[in-house]
Amino acid sequence: MTQPTDLRGWQRLSQHYSANKDLTMRSLFAADPERFEHFQLQAAGIFLDYSKNRVSKETMQLLTDLAREANVEQKITNMFAGELVNPTEGRQALHTALRNRSNSPVVVEGQDVMPGVQAVLDRMHVFSDQVRNGEWLGYKNEPITDVVNIGIGGSDLGPLMACEALAAFAHERLNMHFVSNVDGSHIAETLKGLNPRTTLFIIASKTFTTQETLTNANSAKTWFLESDANESDVAKHFVALSTNAEKVAAFGIDTNNMFEFWDWVGGRYSLWCAIGLPIILSIGMERFYQFLEGAHAMDEHFKTAPLDENIPVTLGLLTVWYTNFHGAHSHLIAPYDQYLHRFPAYLQQLTMESNGKSVHIDGSAVDCETGPIVWGEPGTNGQHAYFQLVHQGTHLIPTDFILPMESLNPIGNHHELLMANCFAQSEALMMGKSSEELTLEMRNAGASADEIDRLTGHRTFSGNRPSNTIMMQRLDARALGALIATYEHKVYVEAAIWNINPFDQWGVELGKQLASKIQQELAGGKTVSAHDSSTNGLINRALKLRNLHA
Ligand code: F6P
Repeated sequence: MTQPTDLRGWQRLSQHYSANKDLTMRSLFAADPERFEHFQLQAAGIFLDYSKNRVSKETMQLLTDLAREANVEQKITNMFAGELVNPTEGRQALHTALRNRSNSPVVVEGQDVMPGVQAVLDRMHVFSDQVRNGEWLGYKNEPITDVVNIGIGGSDLGPLMACEALAAFAHERLNMHFVSNVDGSHIAETLKGLNPRTTLFIIASKTFTTQETLTNANSAKTWFLESDANESDVAKHFVALSTNAEKVAAFGIDTNNMFEFWDWVGGRYSLWCAIGLPIILSIGMERFYQFLEGAHAMDEHFKTAPLDENIPVTLGLLTVWYTNFHGAHSHLIAPYDQYLHRFPAYLQQLTMESNGKSVHIDGSAVDCETGPIVWGEPGTNGQHAYFQLVHQGTHLIPTDFILPMESLNPIGNHHELLMANCFAQSEALMMGKSSEELTLEMRNAGASADEIDRLTGHRTFSGNRPSNTIMMQRLDARALGALIATYEHKVYVEAAIWNINPFDQWGVELGKQLASKIQQELAGGKTVSAHDSSTNGLINRALKLRNLHA
């Protein structure tokens, strides 16, 4: 297989990097007073300022050439057209069909999937209206007050993040809870204070075989039945979101209470359909449709905009530029919006489960770095925690700042302060502070020459640290939909360049296999010797100490 590094565009970028590696963003801004205007894009309510990157017009041209040579345009078409873009699992990746609000058919294996998609949305509409209106009654004829979503990974992170992001629009009576961890403390703490008569459990699992989810679901059912409810009451309090009707029935949930989705929806792309039920319960169907419309608008942009005017393509190419040419290993997500506090965690699965790969789509080894580590916290909190390292550490950490213009809670001057901090961070990262500037500043503040000399190294900032700023008018359902779709497509663009499959996740399997074996050994209670000495030692120590405390 041709390696990405064999592409002419890659080699030209290598040469371009070597020739320009000392170029600073300061000098680029000085040379072009309209750089902000020249390096910005706008679509689907999302505004991107990418001027604070180590790129010139030539760099962007070379990156776009690379994308063209790597067949990014064709790969985009293939994904939307329902080609088998996930060959290792023999599947399409048609999350875009779930938010296809255009009435155009999407054909999978000769069949238009759109009527099926709409049918599930319609069922969720009816069900969510009943719960929200208080018509759906628990076994003692009381309306639902608490919804507990039990799922993990894509069956948890997406709906949890979106419910938090849109909490300003949440239904007043319904409290949303999410249980994912197999650690019993998660479900125990969640159920404390909840009333079985008014609690609705959503068991969310694409496969309905995930150990953590089934364990939590069983514990939830036990808790429910420990009240004065009986088996026939389960139907009023448990619904399932899954592709696996057989397993749902085997668990004891009536398949009439199941909202289905399909193999061609990846777990981490499933919040747009049945897995989005908690979002619908929280914000209502009308807003959920706005959420889908926002994503659809970004899909249309991604599909039709030229590569050099395409937001997800630009973001993906910038990540390739830093990962493969500048040696960056991580990417910081800094949402300046408290409602987006789970967005970085959600993006960790989206990007790292997708692009944490070492082989090409044909199984041959890659010869370049692939997906970077994604991390982050909302601003301004991050500023008082890890921003020190981002400003003065030895790692290059490209950063995405995300900021809505309007606050949903306009109190005093909070939002002005938030915005000021966001803009200040990207300015500081880009401009830095030279020793001359520092000297002047310290001298004006009355510092002695000795003190200036002693502190110069500590108080100067190299600058030239890249960032994007992504803005929207306000964080509503439509904007959130567009934002998520932006990142989904960005990840796809990176994978297209690296020629890897972003839609499988074999890397999670080995740990699952070993855990199931070790669980049996722990349950068996006998000293083990079949593992390496560390694993044997840990298991045997756990057996011994657990027995001591039993
Ligand atoms: O273990 C990884 C994974 O398979 C994710 O890809 C998925 O989102 C998650 O587990 C949960 O899977 P399921 O929805 O089938 O329970």
